[in-house]
Amino acid sequence: QTFWAVVPAAGVGKRMNANRPKQYLELGGQTVLEQTLARLLQAEVFRGIAVAVSEEDGYWPDLPIARHPQIIRAPGGKERADSVLSALHALAGQAATDDWVLVHDAARPCLTITDIHHLIATLRDDPIGGILAVASHDTLKNVQGESIIGTLDRSYIWRALTPQMFRYGLLKSALQTQQGNPAITDEASALELQGWQPKIVAGRPDNIKITRPEDLALAEFYRAQQTL
Ligand code: C5P
Repeated sequence: QTFWAVVPAAGVGKRMNANRPKQYLELGGQTVLEQTLARLLQAEVFRGIAVAVSEEDGYWPDLPIARHPQIIRAPGGKERADSVLSALHALAGQAATDDWVLVHDAARPCLTITDIHHLIATLRDDPIGGILAVASHDTLKNVQGESIIGTLDRSYIWRALTPQMFRYGLLKSALQTQQGNPAITDEASALELQGWQPKIVAGRPDNIKITRPEDLALAEFYRAQQTL
């Protein structure tokens, strides 16, 4: 079996209020993006890693990892799903329909090698694929305006993380079909709308997405605790 990684890294990260996109903020002496890519390379399972980078991105060319032989650059897209699709197109000709693709956010630098291997080991014989996720410990409210109109049964609520692991051909056709649909906020949702039921694999809750300024300090703390 052949495994590819796709890393959408073409966001601007507005919620960070920073002077540069969040994937280029500093974390442990490197950029967030370099730390994320280093984790994927350390897993030693990927034939190639396609990174979707905005065409106006002036930071990427200066990163040494941009010249790594396993790294393939693809143009970024308007939304995250467009960036993922662009990276999948960059793998066309190399990737076979049944190959596995693990899509992982550039902004998740705390992914452990153990979780990558756990996801792969659990799903490698699955016809479709699935995602890392964590069970929700918070009580979740359904809200309209400022009023609560219901409480979700949290025993079947999970928070989706990345990597999300799917067959190359299936993922590409699902994203193509659902292109422009605002309901597509991750890869699994595109497959769900095509009628598939992707699997859930319990991941580590410290696999956070850098979203708000304080998340950088949190990521540094988590990374220092990890044994990988
Ligand atoms: O903004 P958000 O946190 O949802 O972004 C998740 C990931 O998707 C980030 O790694 C970001 O760089 C990427 N992204 C992208 N292309 C976009 C928007 C987001 O590659 N147009």
